[in-house]
Amino acid sequence: MKYFILFGPPGAGKGTQASAMVEKYRLCHISTGELLRSEIAAGTELGQQAKALIEAGCLVPDEVVEGMIEAKFDSVKDVDGFLLDGFPRTIAQAEALDAMLKRRSEAVTGVVSIMIPDEMIMERIKHRATIEGRADDAREEVVANRIRTYHEKTEPLIAFYRQTDRYHEVDGVGTIDEVRERIFTLMDAF
Ligand code: AP5
Ligand code: MG
Repeated sequence: MKYFILFGPPGAGKGTQASAMVEKYRLCHISTGELLRSEIAAGTELGQQAKALIEAGCLVPDEVVEGMIEAKFDSVKDVDGFLLDGFPRTIAQAEALDAMLKRRSEAVTGVVSIMIPDEMIMERIKHRATIEGRADDAREEVVANRIRTYHEKTEPLIAFYRQTDRYHEVDGVGTIDEVRERIFTLMDAF
């Protein structure tokens, strides 16, 4: 099994690019953000706990998302690998992922990091707010908190994965097609 991490700040294009990647490389897409939004929509206890945190632009507790990821690893078959979108997001989550994969005698295959400047994040999310109606896109201060949370808690993962030689950056500025081609070139080399 291959285990790819699709990394990047809010609005970088992770969800957008993931759909083409999973099709081309026969991967299962796991977006922790989407899984959490489904829990909220279904009104589960987990969803109720996560709702306020997500709508404030904060992270949900590490154990919650770690449990979701492991459940997917256990249940999904008939794929060549997994594409993790929005996970890991803290050093603790990255360590938990390593431990989870070690128990399976597996390891992270590669990290594809989509890079865009902060100003573009705001612009893209404002645009998406008019289309998708995500609760955490609606207010500028919440988006600003998501960006701050990314810099504080998630960006340190770049140094974490750089040490492993499996970290690769892609310029996320350009059309969706241009960014996709850059990602495919990188993926073909793994
Ligand atoms: P999550 O759903 O993961 O949100 P996010 O990381 O903030 O990322 P987004 O989904 O906003 O952006 P994206 O990179 O997928 O961009 P997209 O392709 O949509 O997480 C939401 C929340 O859940 C978190 O804040 C946290 O509370 C919680 N959570 C999730 N995972 C967690 C974890 N591991 N631990 C703890 N808490 C967790 O693109 C954005 C827009 O731009 C779209 O409109 C798109 O059409 C457009 N676009 C994309 N590419 C381009 C392009 N090249 N040119 C022009 N427009 C483009
Ligand atoms: Mg997304």
